[in-house]
Amino acid sequence: MKHDISEHIRYIGTDDKTLDLFEGQYIVPEGVSYNSYLIIDERIAILDTIDIRCTEEWLANLECELRGRKPDYIIVSHMEPDHAASLHTLVERYPEITIVGNSKTFAMIEQFFEALPACSRLTVKDGDTLSLGSHTLQFITAPMVHWPEVMTTYEQSEKVLFSADAFGKFGALDCYDGDWDCEARRYYFNIVGKYGAQVQMLLKKVAPLDIRTIAPLHGPILRDNLCRYIDKYDTWSSYRPESEGVFIACASIYGNTAKAARALAEILEAKGAKKVAFADLTRDDMAEAVEDAFRYDRLVVAASTYDGGIFTPMEQFLAQLAHKNFQKRRVAIVENGTWAPAAGRLMRELLEAMKEVEICEGTATIRSAFRPCDRFALEALADELLA
Ligand code: FEO
Repeated sequence: MKHDISEHIRYIGTDDKTLDLFEGQYIVPEGVSYNSYLIIDERIAILDTIDIRCTEEWLANLECELRGRKPDYIIVSHMEPDHAASLHTLVERYPEITIVGNSKTFAMIEQFFEALPACSRLTVKDGDTLSLGSHTLQFITAPMVHWPEVMTTYEQSEKVLFSADAFGKFGALDCYDGDWDCEARRYYFNIVGKYGAQVQMLLKKVAPLDIRTIAPLHGPILRDNLCRYIDKYDTWSSYRPESEGVFIACASIYGNTAKAARALAEILEAKGAKKVAFADLTRDDMAEAVEDAFRYDRLVVAASTYDGGIFTPMEQFLAQLAHKNFQKRRVAIVENGTWAPAAGRLMRELLEAMKEVEICEGTATIRSAFRPCDRFALEALADELLA
């Protein structure tokens, strides 16, 4: 299946459906795409290389589209290896190529590629342009829209924003069924989520541009109803909840804490919560749990006490939330402990360190097993959470 943007802007990226963990930690059951583009004009520019896992397929795509010509420029939007790892091979094959990046890009090139063959380098700054003939590239830096060197590129004649990691999505292109939100949201909060302020800055910078197509480095090329995707990014990057509802994250050792958490879910539903989502942190995908914590306006953390601390899957979940700048949510705490419940106090301390997190005063404490009388504490907690 072809994913070209136009006659002159060709897709030369690849799908990777055998990767077990993206960035060494995120499952990608439907794979991932490494997007790379080629602009064919009087001068030819490649926008980003590709992960080393797919170099050969990418070079074949490139050669096919070049039809015997040679590329003049390689634009490096992002130095992370899922996009830049094939740079060495590219420069070896086309030594006359000019690498285009900003000063931070070139500093990273030195670090990643000590033995990169000598070639021309063009250092650009925010707002600089590069003419390829009838196409003009305008560089828009996007520092920390994942890494400090990140740079987006606006092609002025066809009005395409090459958005780097922004607007990316997990999932191979040939698995894409049109449902963008779910895996784009999981991607956003786990990969870029920490950098909401920087994403807001990028949105402001590109707002005056007439954008007809968004071409990210992962996932589908976006062409229709772009406001919808931009609105999602505005919501996510400003840490506003996207949906009304409660996300219950539970870490239970023998299932007793889980019984309490499930009972709380029923109580919340009975009291009119719009949506109650549930994750078992001991088994479910942690990245999806992080995504859901950001998605809904209310969170419940339910965990057993373990070794005098928080049962480790919950400890890991809260560390991930802190890492990703979790904020502006209302949270309720359920704890369990057989001889000295401590998880509630410790979870509260971690949550108190987060920005604008409003924690319910009451903590529901389960002692070993969930009993009918524990429902009173859960009822009170549900009332406080939904108030
Ligand atoms: Fe797809 Fe930040 O790399």
